[in-house]
Amino acid sequence: MEIIALEKYNIFVGNANEALTNIDTTPYSQIILLCDENTERHCLPLLTSFLAKKATTIIIVSAGEQHKNLLTCEKIWQQLLDYQVDRKALLINVGGGVIGDMGGFCASTFKRGFDFIQVPTTLLSLVDASVGGKLGIDFNGFKNTIGVFQDPKAVIIDVRFLKTLPYKELRSGYAEVIKHTLIADKKDWQRHSQIKDIHLLDWKTIVYNSLVVKKNIVEQDPFEKNIRKALNFGHTVGHAVESYFLDTATPLLHGEAIAIGMIVETFFSYQKGFLTLSEKKQIVDYLLKIYGKISFKSDIFDVLIKNMQQDKKNEHKEINFTALEKIGTFKINQTVSEKEIVEGLIFYQSL
Ligand SMILES: NC(=O)c1ccc[n+]([C@@H]2O[C@H](COP(=O)([O-])OP(=O)(O)OC[C@H]3O[C@@H](n4cnc5c(N)ncnc54)[C@H](O)[C@@H]3O)[C@@H](O)[C@H]2O)c1
Repeated sequence: MEIIALEKYNIFVGNANEALTNIDTTPYSQIILLCDENTERHCLPLLTSFLAKKATTIIIVSAGEQHKNLLTCEKIWQQLLDYQVDRKALLINVGGGVIGDMGGFCASTFKRGFDFIQVPTTLLSLVDASVGGKLGIDFNGFKNTIGVFQDPKAVIIDVRFLKTLPYKELRSGYAEVIKHTLIADKKDWQRHSQIKDIHLLDWKTIVYNSLVVKKNIVEQDPFEKNIRKALNFGHTVGHAVESYFLDTATPLLHGEAIAIGMIVETFFSYQKGFLTLSEKKQIVDYLLKIYGKISFKSDIFDVLIKNMQQDKKNEHKEINFTALEKIGTFKINQTVSEKEIVEGLIFYQSL
């Protein structure tokens, strides 16, 4: 078992069953495990000896972003009440970013908070959502609007969970891997940009490298006052697009929306004179190769801009984004006008 140590908790990389079994649970009054219907089916079988050894109450919720909301939290809180959970309990979140964000939020707010552990099972949550202490839910169609910062007691990384993850989900998480290389690791970006089929990747190494990028950034700035904003590259436009499509018959996965966001924000970075034409082309071509293009009409631009105006990163009502300065470095606190946003969206449409 490898350990990546953060100031307040450890990330254990290896066999999740073993890691959970080794956790000293004697201080805890009871153990609750939160999962969704898919992770119950696909991921709990990898934790059988832990579940056999430690008495664990399991709460199962419906899967998917559309359930990352207050209604599901109420159901979770109600079950915590029914099971007489107190502040000495431990919640183990086994699932993707939805379970991690929502389970962590429920644990951090129930009776003013009790401990939780993240066991991410999607690529997105393995490399991104499980680390950094951002927890929360969507509200009235706006992404992650209600939430808190709270660190888990531990994060357990086991890439064997990826074996059952559908390709679309794998590709969604891969967007955050690409983002990490673009903001922090030019060499890794060059390696990735040669990849034709993401099935062939060595996930153990990729997840490890990507996690280290995230860990290094969040440790320097846990509350997103400055450098952590780097992780928002692609997310100003991406979240707006994700929120818009959430309400349609064809919702996009988080990473699919972020891929669009990274293309548009690469364009902004080029327009601002940071990226060269060839860097812009390299990035856009690769993202299009992996994610294809999503069509949308210009009449949704207003909604997208409205969504961007709700973005938590904005200050003084200006729309804020993180630019790429070059491949491998970034520039936070960049602003874009509505006119520039429209140009970016038209650029995407023109591809
Ligand atoms: N907290 C953060 O810092 C942070 C960072 C990035 C994203 N997020 C959030 O993460 C969420 C997206 O996370 P996600 O992409 O993991 O989505 P998700 O949790 O909805 O999981 C995707 C789907 O895969 C299923 N699944 C999970 N693991 C599986 C496995 N091993 N095998 C088979 N099926 C499996 C789930 O049931 C679900 O249907 C968004 O809500 C986003 O806002 C949070």
